[in-house]
Amino acid sequence: MIRACVIGFPIKHSRSPMIHGHWLKQFGIAGEYARVEVRPEELREFLGTLPERGLAGCNITLPHKEPACNYVQHLDDRGRRTGSINTVYVRDGQTFATSTDGEGFVENILWRLPSFSFSGKTALILGAGGTSRALIDEMLRRGADHVLLANRTPEKAEKIAKVFPGQVTALSLAHLDDALSCADLLVNATSAGIADAAKIVVPFARLKQDAVVTDVNYVPLVTPFLQEAAAHGHVVVPGLGMLLHQAVPGFELWFGKRPVVNDALYTLIARDIDPGYAG
Ligand code: ATR
Repeated sequence: MIRACVIGFPIKHSRSPMIHGHWLKQFGIAGEYARVEVRPEELREFLGTLPERGLAGCNITLPHKEPACNYVQHLDDRGRRTGSINTVYVRDGQTFATSTDGEGFVENILWRLPSFSFSGKTALILGAGGTSRALIDEMLRRGADHVLLANRTPEKAEKIAKVFPGQVTALSLAHLDDALSCADLLVNATSAGIADAAKIVVPFARLKQDAVVTDVNYVPLVTPFLQEAAAHGHVVVPGLGMLLHQAVPGFELWFGKRPVVNDALYTLIARDIDPGYAG
């Protein structure tokens, strides 16, 4: 029996067990993927004893993605550049870690818009947390020309811009007009927009006409941010697909088979979020 899990605090809302459970069943693998609540003060001990716990690895979610980098034995280049990890796997009794958030983000866009290319594109990202760093890293790797990074607290965006010299420009959320007029892709990577009350306000009328709009939040499936973008005529890519695609490399690392994200899986998870989801 191969065992893996997702750790976080809180953890009860994680949909990762449904995703990996679906694939385990599909491949007929004798495996298990659980949900484990790990408090911040327990993180070091938990990650330090993964092999002893009989785990092939784990996913890491909030609030552990950044501190976890300090508690694994081998951090890959992605993890080092983004300072954030979401996937740990055990090899020869040692812990290895990477971040698959950037890959999940990019693959979700390409899944929904197969003719989209990041090459030469300008992206405008709202929000400068750990997720933004992973997205920037992967978009640049896929050939994006420039990333404009706007944050409520500009210092945080400036700090990230220094990690990618010449490729990322930090902005204030209050001065978006010029950035909106030249962005090919607009991303909400803030945690705002989950509830209507905290909705992030963007002057969509200024956004380049053919810009694609996406959101890393997926509850509700079409966030208020995406609803507004769609109302302004933009092609929108909901964020749930990012969650599904970021899970692919982890499953392969632990269980040895590379799964495929398809509409059946999307519908399964979408209905768990919104029972009225009709496809
Ligand atoms: P993660 O690591 O998942 O990216 P995070 O580090 O908590 O999450 O980052 C959340 C981001 O959402 C931050 O950029 C935050 O802005 P600040 O750096 O100014 O705190 C942004 N954010 C949260 N609520 C917001 C709101 N109501 N309006 C604008 N930005 C908001």
